[in-house]
Amino acid sequence: MLQVREVAAVEDAAVVLRKATVADVPGLLALINGYAMRGQLLPRTAESLEARLDDFTVAVSDGALVGCAALTLLGPGVGEVRSLAVAPEQAGRGLGRSLVIALLQEAEARGFGEVLALTRRVSFFDALGFRATRRENYLDKLMVDCAACPKNLCCDETAMVRPPAASREFV
Ligand SMILES: CC(C)(COP(=O)(O)OP(=O)(O)OC[C@H]1O[C@@H](n2cnc3c(N)ncnc32)[C@H](O)[C@@H]1OP(=O)(O)O)[C@@H](O)C(=O)NCCC(=O)NCCS
Repeated sequence: MLQVREVAAVEDAAVVLRKATVADVPGLLALINGYAMRGQLLPRTAESLEARLDDFTVAVSDGALVGCAALTLLGPGVGEVRSLAVAPEQAGRGLGRSLVIALLQEAEARGFGEVLALTRRVSFFDALGFRATRRENYLDKLMVDCAACPKNLCCDETAMVRPPAASREFV
């Protein structure tokens, strides 16, 4: 099993990365939907989180959930980064980066050939080895999500993709 703590270089030793459990759902809802209200993430419901809980890695500090990210199967061999969020008071400390690295290494363990992110944070993902690609390449796979998004017809996100990380790439 993937040992997230070993592979994700969190700068603050007090922050632990681990897979989510059902007890994390209220914290996940608060964190994700806080950003969703500002139009920065798609909103999630408790039901949608519980259905995909295995996809989630969370960052925990002093018992509080301060970050999360999900690696969702988009299609054969393709994973997508979803619901990436870091609590505002923890921003800029490397947590977002560590969460994505953990997902990239999980992608390797799950046998994915590529990992996709739809994002407005192009430089953040570029620094993690993602490169811009045509969103249209993934439209059939994204159809359900995009259809539910209020910005479907005026999408301002960039599709970025990279292979999964080799196990020691970022260590
Ligand atoms: C995107 C997000 C997860 C980044 O988390 P984070 O923990 O602050 O990121 P890190 O500390 O790992 O920063 C990584 C890089 O991004 C930069 N960065 C962090 N926050 C930033 C911000 N608000 N604006 C611009 N750059 C920022 C950091 O300076 C760092 O760059 P560096 O390595 O060159 O110094 C976080 O800002 C967030 O939750 N945003 C709201 C939700 C969202 O937009 N999610 C992404 C959807 S794809």
